[in-house]
Amino acid sequence: MSKAAASRKVRVNLDSRAYDVLIGKGVLDRKGHWAKGVGLAGPVAVITDSTVAELYAKKVLHQLTAAGFQPALFSVPAGEKSKSMEAVATVLSGLAQKKLTRSAAVIGLGGGVIGDLAGFVAATYLRGIDFVQVPTTLLAMVDSSVGGKTGVNLPEGKNLVGAFLQPKLVVADLETLKTLPPREFAAGMAEVIKYGAIRDRALFNRVAKGVKPGDSDLVEIVKKCVAIKARIVEKDEFEIKGERALLNFGHTIGHAIEKVTEYRNYLHGEAISLGMRAAAWLSHWEAGLPLKEVQILGKTLQATGLPTHLKEPDDSVALILIDRIIQALGNDKKVAADGKNRWVLLKSLGQAETGFEIKPDVIEAALRVLLTPLLDRDVP
Ligand SMILES: NC(=O)c1ccc[n+]([C@@H]2O[C@H](COP(=O)([O-])OP(=O)(O)OC[C@H]3O[C@@H](n4cnc5c(N)ncnc54)[C@H](O)[C@@H]3O)[C@@H](O)[C@H]2O)c1
Ligand SMILES: [Zn+2]
Repeated sequence: MSKAAASRKVRVNLDSRAYDVLIGKGVLDRKGHWAKGVGLAGPVAVITDSTVAELYAKKVLHQLTAAGFQPALFSVPAGEKSKSMEAVATVLSGLAQKKLTRSAAVIGLGGGVIGDLAGFVAATYLRGIDFVQVPTTLLAMVDSSVGGKTGVNLPEGKNLVGAFLQPKLVVADLETLKTLPPREFAAGMAEVIKYGAIRDRALFNRVAKGVKPGDSDLVEIVKKCVAIKARIVEKDEFEIKGERALLNFGHTIGHAIEKVTEYRNYLHGEAISLGMRAAAWLSHWEAGLPLKEVQILGKTLQATGLPTHLKEPDDSVALILIDRIIQALGNDKKVAADGKNRWVLLKSLGQAETGFEIKPDVIEAALRVLLTPLLDRDVP
């Protein structure tokens, strides 16, 4: 099979804001035609980070130039710190200094940090210009590049500033995953496992066998994830109807863990892995998820190289952490107007439901599971 033949397309149907997600191996080798295809005509600003710039900027700039564009490169330091108002201001000034007009477009080349930053820049420069996402991490391919959420962090908290801006196109070249550090790949796999768990048992079963960056069916796996997210986003583009909440399986506890550990100990996907293990137990107790499936989910996370218990020096430190996680759950920005968390739980692997209210002692019991290594607890 030729490289081109191996690519897939997922359409995100959002009326006038509809777009394609192109997924394939070597897509970025195709002379920048992807940019022409969606009608970009003016100058393009490629926003990337220092690590991705070293690896891929030359190639992407070359392809865009070959397709007749005049690309300008803007690089920010790699890492979450670049999702800041300071970085937004720096890049916006850069665009203004180049005198880019509204016919210009922004291309975000990188992981979720760059997608969120570049998208917010595109949403605000001259009150909004065209935007294309070129995700280079697994997490960005299956999650952050699709759905139109853009934004940055404030010192007061994560993702507190932002805008909805759907891209004109998403180009996911799986070849780029070959340079992604294994820990980052595993973190992206947490979201893949989540998609299988909430919507697609066959996808879950495939993923449970283990996935590597070079796997021949990775295109199909990423496509399935993107399609699940697209179908959910289509029903609830601006996150007001509750449908999008399904994507938060494992995220209520995961976000709380990230927050209390000050985003230092765990990558997002790693915190979500912990959140999913706990949420699987909540699902068993409150939504009828069979015990066997709690175990299968835990084993899958573990086999993927994701954490399944809190790695604290001793139990007393871990217990304090659990208290702080419980407090953080109360401050979750997604709690309902009545101040209660609404939980996404699994009825079975492949089928999730939203809207569960859970008593505090049950939540605490699920968090306590995270004190114990998986083998002691979740295996018969
Ligand atoms: N907008 C959304 O809907 C949404 C959804 C989920 C997450 N997010 C956001 O995404 C961000 C996390 O994204 P992420 O996990 O992709 O992190 P990231 O963008 O920081 O990328 C992780 C690391 O991998 C490096 N990298 C990227 N591509 C590479 C490649 N191909 N080869 C080698 N190294 C590479 C980066 O330089 C970085 O150091 C968070 O800020 C999160 O809030 C947004
Ligand atoms: Zn997530």
